[in-house]
Amino acid sequence: MRSVAAFNESWTFHEGFTPELAQAFGEGRVVSLPHNAVELPFNYFDETSYQRAFTYQKVLRWHPEFAGREVSLVFDGAMADSVVYLNGEEVVAHKDGYTPFNARLTGRLREGDNLITVKIDGSENPEIPPFGGRIDYLTYAGIYRDVWLKVTDAVSIGNIKVETANVLSDLKSASVRCDLSNPQGLAVSGTVTATLRGPDGAPLGTASATTAGESVTLAFDNLSAIALWDIDAPVLYEMVVELKSDRGMDHYASHFGFRTAEFTADGFRLNGRKLKIRGLNRHQSYPYVGYAMGHSAQERDAEIMKDTLKCNLVRTSHYPQSKWFLDHCDRIGLLVFEEIPGWQHIGGEGWKQESVENVRRMIERDWNHPSIIIWGVRINESKDSHDFYAETNRLARELDGTRQTGGVRFILDSEFLEDVFTMNDFILGNEELPGSNRPRTPLREQRECTGLDRVVPYLITEFGGHMYPTKIYDQEQRQAEHVRRHLEVLNAAYGDPNISGAIGWCMFDYNTHKDFGSGDRICYHGVMDMFREPKFAAYVYASQCEPSEDVIMKPVTFWARGERNIGGVLPLIVLTNCDEIELRYGSLVKRIGPDREHYPHLPHPPVVIDHRHFTKDELGVWGMQWEDAHFTGYVGGEEVATLHMVADPVPAKMEVRADSHSIRAADRDTTRVIVRALDQVGSRMPFLNDVVTVKVLGPAKLIGPQTVPFQGGTAGFWLESTGLPGAVTVEVSSSRFAGETLHLTSV
Ligand code: GAL
Repeated sequence: MRSVAAFNESWTFHEGFTPELAQAFGEGRVVSLPHNAVELPFNYFDETSYQRAFTYQKVLRWHPEFAGREVSLVFDGAMADSVVYLNGEEVVAHKDGYTPFNARLTGRLREGDNLITVKIDGSENPEIPPFGGRIDYLTYAGIYRDVWLKVTDAVSIGNIKVETANVLSDLKSASVRCDLSNPQGLAVSGTVTATLRGPDGAPLGTASATTAGESVTLAFDNLSAIALWDIDAPVLYEMVVELKSDRGMDHYASHFGFRTAEFTADGFRLNGRKLKIRGLNRHQSYPYVGYAMGHSAQERDAEIMKDTLKCNLVRTSHYPQSKWFLDHCDRIGLLVFEEIPGWQHIGGEGWKQESVENVRRMIERDWNHPSIIIWGVRINESKDSHDFYAETNRLARELDGTRQTGGVRFILDSEFLEDVFTMNDFILGNEELPGSNRPRTPLREQRECTGLDRVVPYLITEFGGHMYPTKIYDQEQRQAEHVRRHLEVLNAAYGDPNISGAIGWCMFDYNTHKDFGSGDRICYHGVMDMFREPKFAAYVYASQCEPSEDVIMKPVTFWARGERNIGGVLPLIVLTNCDEIELRYGSLVKRIGPDREHYPHLPHPPVVIDHRHFTKDELGVWGMQWEDAHFTGYVGGEEVATLHMVADPVPAKMEVRADSHSIRAADRDTTRVIVRALDQVGSRMPFLNDVVTVKVLGPAKLIGPQTVPFQGGTAGFWLESTGLPGAVTVEVSSSRFAGETLHLTSV
């Protein structure tokens, strides 16, 4: 039987690396994983600070259960160019920073203490993806995902691949291929048994076959009363595989789902039903700690995509992301576009080989996730490279014939080797370029991008982003334009049956190189800020859900007389899924329906209040008294939402909200805390320039500095457990508000 135990605690970390270092335990700081080699400030830093070598060391004490068995360390991900040494001898080298690897220790461990040394190198090594050119994101150095100590018998289960068939019939089928791991090449004779378990864990069938070391495929046919995996009901089944052999036993399980996912020339279908994809791109980065955020923070991002932003898909731009994130996408019903590491640049032969290997590693790691519906097998936005991309596509299809391939591009007429033409269409905003005579165009017609004479499966993989960077504290007018652009593109995608959907750039702001962004090492491209706090544009996505799921009513305004140029708040967009919005201003009352004239294709067009409804004289001549606003949302004639915005906001309350009031003492668990500066009716105060001071008592610590500024009326931080159970008190203070105390428990 296998045992897999976390190997994250008590590593010694130090700067630099020399081969001599691997011979003996060096001096350093004790750290636990996931770990970020160099903690960065929020912005304005030197991104070369982590672009060098670092060393991690840890002792692995001999254990009698190792005798005669396979022992390895499994690295879920380390950035980058990792080399693992055991007692000074190199065991494995793995260059890629996003895919897992094994360090096989079998036969080399000695009784007593064994020294594990891991060299990683944060230099942007031009020999491996994504490096060699310039990239618009940071690749923070460190062993930033979990490490596991895995012990198995000499022959074990290497991997399993579950496939489903006849999914849309009453009687469905499933099969599992079980690949054995037999590193010593032993003669083996055994039996593989697979048990299919239902959502409640009950066994639905068993199948078995003998093996002499070769892969075994077991089939389950005529399965009745099977529930589909869908975005609204993500029902998961489990395939449990057991190996019994003369070389040992093993047990391995994977969740999977019954679903079909198909991109066609007339749109995307999930389980045969048309579904317009509405998504956002996600980087895996966080303030200060870069990539090094564990289990719960990864899950939380998936929940934000699904529950707050109401998206149905996330693109893991531009690399395979944490398994915790993907597992959660399976559980909550969030579709995933996963792609290999890379950004615009294609390197030499060795580089390309590494990239092809990345296709293999990504697919072999993730092929059982029902949430993943397409493999991205091109370097994001690279030029055509026929042989290279013929090979990435060939390999993807060979490894996994059940999913289509895509390859994200921005050049026109590029060679179509994939199954889905996946296009970054940044045409909106081009009308501002000197000499452009194109009218404002949200998206191009697909044939203009593909250069093909026929319509093909087609998906918009990015839009927005650098075409209109917008900060959470930007002027209202700019934020309204940001909103309008996201609305226009989504509307166009909904309106064109040949477009499978659109994935906006991007979910949240992110740290980047000096060659991109606003000069402070941030790309303000998110519909949320780096703390995942929504800007107005976030509600463009959220408001497309049905009001039965959640009622959204978000006026795109701070409600002030003189914040916009010339004054007033018109035109006022209210992002909503209500049938009607009533605005009461002084003695004026108007009830207004969605703007289907400008956004005819959106499931829920916004209400746009403008001169058609209020004259400038009625609502906002400079010098007139400014009054409160009362918004009421109606669905089916019923009042479902109310919002009061005041004409004279003053600081009233500091809201302090934690995503969770309990954190696990182990595993450096985290929770996010958001602090909001609110006025007397609970509106965020966007221009309150105050700082927030955070004090943590008990077994947890703050990630980042103790004092953080409000930005756009909000501040955020993460708390991290320090290993012990107990009560955690977080005192938050600010000069303009009464202090707040948050009570959490570390369990
Ligand atoms: C795209 C690129 C993204 C991001 C975005 C900014 O070209 O794929 O990674 O840089 O532009 O809008």
